[in-house]
Amino acid sequence: MRQGDSRIVLASNNAGKLREMSALLAPLGLSLVRQADLGVPEAEEPFGTFIENALAKARHASRLTGLPALADDSGLCVDALDGRPGVLSARWAAQAGGEKSDAANNARLIADLAGVADRAAHYYCVLVLVRSVDDPQPVVADASWHGEVSDTPRGTGGFGYDPYFLLPELGLTVAELDAATKNEISHRGQAMRLLVERLRHDRVLRSVRADAIGQTGQIDMSTPVVPRAQT
Ligand code: IMP
Repeated sequence: MRQGDSRIVLASNNAGKLREMSALLAPLGLSLVRQADLGVPEAEEPFGTFIENALAKARHASRLTGLPALADDSGLCVDALDGRPGVLSARWAAQAGGEKSDAANNARLIADLAGVADRAAHYYCVLVLVRSVDDPQPVVADASWHGEVSDTPRGTGGFGYDPYFLLPELGLTVAELDAATKNEISHRGQAMRLLVERLRHDRVLRSVRADAIGQTGQIDMSTPVVPRAQT
């Protein structure tokens, strides 16, 4: 990590994730910058586990920028489908020759579960932060959010499988929650808070923050980042 630079590159181009994660990291003196804003193309996600994909995305962003990088990977795991769609959640319908859309993914999921009584499922999210591309000890935080897959969609909020993901204790689907409530209790929200706790105690990031804040108490954001060519 460069002295005087408190930036972490976010290995995602999702504006919602940037906003949520930035708010949580700001109190630690750390700021996030989207990888696209540094000229970093999206990484491949070829692996069979969430953690491998998240680590690959974080390393890719760190390699191309020279900055610490934060990546997440998430999906829906259904018990009766042996954890599928899992890492394939975004491409579940496309895997079967359908289109890559939330509507098609949901249609395939409901067809997969036709006549199946066991509807238990969970959303899963893992976050990985590497301090450098060859960081031997990435900071990892993960969380699950349990519910059931309902045949009947309800609600207009959220995205992906949310209209079909029922929270039995609330009697609501995730798409019926307002955004703040979802962020508070979701797999991603829980994992982010865990990550922030881990970073609060992280020595490397603590010393970088002190360098960045320096004498003035202001974070120095002046160091330009020039994306390196991919090796
Ligand atoms: P990604 O981690 O942003 O790539 O998300 C992977 C896929 O998992 C999404 O495209 C959705 O299909 C599913 N997914 C992950 N988190 C959620 C969520 O909070 N609500 C609904 N679907 C989700």
